[in-house]
Amino acid sequence: MQGSGVDETAIEASGLVKRYAGEAALDGVDLAVRAGTVCALLGPNGVGKTTAVRVLTTLLRPDAGTARVAGADVLRRPQEVRRRIGVSGQEPAVDEILGGRQNLVMFARLLGYRPAAAAERADALLDRFGLAAAGAKQVKHYSGGMRRRLDLAVTLLLAPQVLFLDEPTTGLDPRNRNEVWTAVRGLVAGGTTVLLTTQYLDEADRLADEVVVMDEGRVIAAGTPAALKARVGGERLEVVVRDAADLATATAAVAEVCDGTPEVDADAGRVGGDVDRPVAALSRVLSTLAAARVEPSDIGLRRPTLDDVFLRLTGHRTGRRPDRAEGAVGAGPTEGADDAEVAA
Ligand SMILES: Nc1ncnc2c1ncn2[C@@H]1O[C@H](COP(=O)(O)OP(=O)(O)O)[C@@H](O)[C@H]1O
Ligand SMILES: [Mg+2]
Repeated sequence: MQGSGVDETAIEASGLVKRYAGEAALDGVDLAVRAGTVCALLGPNGVGKTTAVRVLTTLLRPDAGTARVAGADVLRRPQEVRRRIGVSGQEPAVDEILGGRQNLVMFARLLGYRPAAAAERADALLDRFGLAAAGAKQVKHYSGGMRRRLDLAVTLLLAPQVLFLDEPTTGLDPRNRNEVWTAVRGLVAGGTTVLLTTQYLDEADRLADEVVVMDEGRVIAAGTPAALKARVGGERLEVVVRDAADLATATAAVAEVCDGTPEVDADAGRVGGDVDRPVAALSRVLSTLAAARVEPSDIGLRRPTLDDVFLRLTGHRTGRRPDRAEGAVGAGPTEGADDAEVAA
């Protein structure tokens, strides 16, 4: 195929701007994704993730900026880009009435595979995505995770060089999320470059080589998950006491195990701090409190969330600008409103 190692950057964007009625959905976005890696665009609803994906997949023309995907210019060579990419949105394109295997065979036939080759390809993909046993089942009886995996399998029929996944696990339960993660890792092992969007810090952490944090149409931080965690802090240990008189004891106990000074919320009777060795820290604080005869009303470990990331990076929490948000998490994106702008 083309490129053949010459172009190590699979996605490259510079100064992307997209405005809706004067409001910038993208406000100067730069991106560089190395071939064969996973990049996660991380941010809450309404920060411009889907808009970025639509521009990079040639579905939407930016007002300014340039982008190259899989070695072709998004604005000058959209057809070439389209031939080399796969896109999986939140609405799977599969047929509900057909079985998973029938869907794959049908798509393969549409792509020009002969019957025997289509069947072979379908079976290989069902196998790869853990759907072999469910191949004959109608898609309408699939779980959310099975649908997403089938959708990924359909996308993969095209053997794209670069795959775009817009919130691949939003609305899925933890087990189904894990299955989708495994599927995505499988793709990357096969050499595909993946750009995914997510609202989940742990998803970005588990899957991505590079995390790009977006806020209000801009990139506000980018780096490896480890670098991001170093900026944001690790796991947090929190203790809540019922009796205000016990707060000083609890604070001293947390101070012994955490990095820096614990954060105290006197009104809530809560003290918390970032810890490197969470389990050891938890057991040490419990025994310190027991020795002081203080019984916490609550104690626990908390992983940082996207909200924590935002607070650290921006000084404000997610959803500070509800006027720009799309609505509740899980309600899905506001797709379709700008279909008129689809560039072909
Ligand atoms: N078709 C559209 N018309 C007007 N505004 C839009 C349209 N699509 C997106 N927006 C706005 O652009 C901003 C970014 O949206 P989007 O890219 O969908 O964010 P995300 O995918 O991160 O949730 C939001 O303020 C959203 O309301
Ligand atoms: Mg979106």
